[in-house]
Amino acid sequence: DDVTIAGLRALAERLAREAGTLVRDGRPEHVEVAATKSSAVDVVTAMDAESEALLRRIIASERPDDAILGEEEGASAGTSGLTWVIDPIDGTVNYLYSVASYAISVAVVAGPPDPAEWTVLAGAVHSIVDGRTWTAGLGAGATLDGEPVAVNPAGPLATSLVGTGFGYDADRRRHQAQVLVDVLPQVRDIRRLGSAAIDLCLVATGSLDLYYERGLNPWDLAAGALVAHEAGARVTGLRGRAAGVEMTVAGAPGAVSDLVAILEASGADSDGTR
Ligand code: IPD
Repeated sequence: DDVTIAGLRALAERLAREAGTLVRDGRPEHVEVAATKSSAVDVVTAMDAESEALLRRIIASERPDDAILGEEEGASAGTSGLTWVIDPIDGTVNYLYSVASYAISVAVVAGPPDPAEWTVLAGAVHSIVDGRTWTAGLGAGATLDGEPVAVNPAGPLATSLVGTGFGYDADRRRHQAQVLVDVLPQVRDIRRLGSAAIDLCLVATGSLDLYYERGLNPWDLAAGALVAHEAGARVTGLRGRAAGVEMTVAGAPGAVSDLVAILEASGADSDGTR
């Protein structure tokens, strides 16, 4: 079929908005933890499952031959070569506590199932509480609510606002705290806002100068990384590797290299003790 990046981008936006409406209107007064995953602090709510089910229903009716990779239900195969990579609520802990930073993240990628080898074609991140929606298409730029966005120009690290996030594993967190000891004294300040997808979009919009995080899953990363890239960011890993689960760093190219140097020296792409 004659699939275009513009068409995929429009569908990604529709998916993110429809699931966002479900999550916003369906939020009970007291959200309960339905289950825990990798650790006691890695939580899932009933709404994570409902939101993913809605996204899957729409994808199955609009693009029945595409594969899907979702945070809650995992992978389902397709035949078209395209995969929808979906996070039904990115920032679940914020959703649980009613802290405003949580989002639906929807990306569509081409290529093999290995995230290191695929190409993100289009993506949308819908911030549920304030309704802001970022979208991007490969080679077609990034927008916030339809208006083009661009990263801040590179400035000195000492005056850069840096977002980050932490994994759910206690040993990893101990090491992430040690890395923070190296980063915090060298930057303007740190923000840990709680949704990787939104953090990457905030880099795209200039509300963060830089962002880094170890341990991101493809559904946290895919849409926001394309938005940041299309807004002029360099999105990379450490030691010449691509952004991914090992490490993701994003920001204006000139600023990213300074942060990369600190993170490499700090061993931020490992969980090891120093
Ligand atoms: C999490 C958020 C958080 C990041 C974690 C992610 P989830 O996603 O993006 O900001 O620090 O690494 O797992 O679990 O809320 O979808």
